[in-house]
Amino acid sequence: MSTDRIDQPSGAPAFFTTPIYYVNDVPHVGHAYTTVAADVMARWRRLWGDDVLFLTGTDEHGLKIQRAAEAAGLTPLEHADRTSARFREAWTLLGISNDDFIRTTEPRHHAAVSHMLQTVYDNGHIELGTYEGLYCVGCEAYYTEDELNDGTCPIHGRPVERVTEENYFFKLSRFEQPLLDYYAAHPDAVVPETRRNEVLGFIKGGLQDFSVSRSSITWGIPLPWDPRHVTYVWFDALINYCTAAGYPSDRERFDRYWPSVVHFVGKDILRFHAVYWPAMLMAAGELPPSQVVAHGWLLAGGEKMSKSKANQIFPADLVAEFGVDGFRYHFMADQRFGPDGDLSYEGMIARYNADLANNFGNLANRVLTMAVNYLGGVVPERREDGLLREEAERVFALQGAAFARYDFASGLEAVWALIRATNAFIEDRAPWALNKAGDTAAVAGVLGDCLEALRIVALLASPVIPSACAELWRRLGLPGRPEDERLPAAAAWGGLPAGSILEKGAPLFPRIQ
Ligand code: ME8
Ligand code: MG
Repeated sequence: MSTDRIDQPSGAPAFFTTPIYYVNDVPHVGHAYTTVAADVMARWRRLWGDDVLFLTGTDEHGLKIQRAAEAAGLTPLEHADRTSARFREAWTLLGISNDDFIRTTEPRHHAAVSHMLQTVYDNGHIELGTYEGLYCVGCEAYYTEDELNDGTCPIHGRPVERVTEENYFFKLSRFEQPLLDYYAAHPDAVVPETRRNEVLGFIKGGLQDFSVSRSSITWGIPLPWDPRHVTYVWFDALINYCTAAGYPSDRERFDRYWPSVVHFVGKDILRFHAVYWPAMLMAAGELPPSQVVAHGWLLAGGEKMSKSKANQIFPADLVAEFGVDGFRYHFMADQRFGPDGDLSYEGMIARYNADLANNFGNLANRVLTMAVNYLGGVVPERREDGLLREEAERVFALQGAAFARYDFASGLEAVWALIRATNAFIEDRAPWALNKAGDTAAVAGVLGDCLEALRIVALLASPVIPSACAELWRRLGLPGRPEDERLPAAAAWGGLPAGSILEKGAPLFPRIQ
């Protein structure tokens, strides 16, 4: 895969998005998974000096929300206010560094949807047609054959009616060839490759026009040219990405960020993002998204975590046990970012203890303790500048290549290789023996290398485990936080100033029983 979009020079615009989540549900670990991944990438690119715009938010219109509100005895907006706040809280808890949080009920979004719809309509890609479907009056909603129980509504148990409704249709069928041409010219516009093939297969199977308006519900954005209809929730929702970039009012800002947009999504909404959305944008005369990155399911007990299966795991429960960094680390290191993966509590504990408590935490503790005991807690002048230096340089290159392909697990493996190499280096050099023999210069050389390796680990792991890395940074006597640094210069060997005052501190990652 080409990495040209990700390895841009410093100062380049970079726009990362998560899906905007439905407010009929509260945030669970599945939502957190996508959001943490996008956050890691946003933090990584900020370290490289990119001008990052990182967006998340909530999807608040449509029948599903209208119903959830009714069930809760609230107006749709009251209900959306409450649940949207839960998402914000969850992202604050998880250290998500989003620059903006969009709600589709905001005026700026209404303006963007109206503008884009009108543009697509004026361009002749929306036409009036009739929609025929199976309708339940009790629900005021259409059902498909397979959603019914013996021909009756699954909620009301009453027979559905065959109803014909006047609807506006987006002429998606016209975009088969333009989409195929676009994907041929942009081979990494959908990653990983399995997802790209799925998208191509779907397009080649033939595209159907789809209805972009609903006259049966009221909770939505009215069509600008026919306010008897509200906008279909997906047509509304996808436009959020443009709204946040400044469309249509701040064209200059939009033109700056839009060409770099990367959408992180779960595979459930891949078609919307990789088929409907680029076609809608083409119809509006805008660029298709630069890249769609789709991941698989996070499973609980072998099943997709979801509200309907009541098998959700909530971020706060895991954070209470593993801490924010433990939570973030687990999902980036253990869950492969492509295929489905099961969330195992035992696996999570094992990985936390092995990688964070033992490898990372012990190394920091060991090195700082020895530096305090043998060197008076001051960073020495001296270093060996040999093996660990080479390892740090190798690891930095590997991590960059892995993160550029959204392979967070391999990127972290690279950083952990430096941790393991440093632990092995200590075993090999045995600074305690050198100290006993009174060879102060040799002790300083060994620990000088180890402290420098810790600095680089704190820097490179910071997009994934920001709190522990900031704390380690502080204990190394460094000013500010790792995120104030800029790559690649900051990763160059030798950045830890001699004379810095060290602090031992409590274990960064206490073991979990
Ligand atoms: O689809 N495993 O919102 P949504 C992995 N509003 N990821 C999961 C997951 C799981 N078990 N469960 C949820 C919508 N996700 C629309 C999006 S965008 C313009 C509109 C994540 O609340 C994953 O990213 O149903 C999935 O695509 C998204 O949550 C769906 O969130
Ligand atoms: Mg969903």
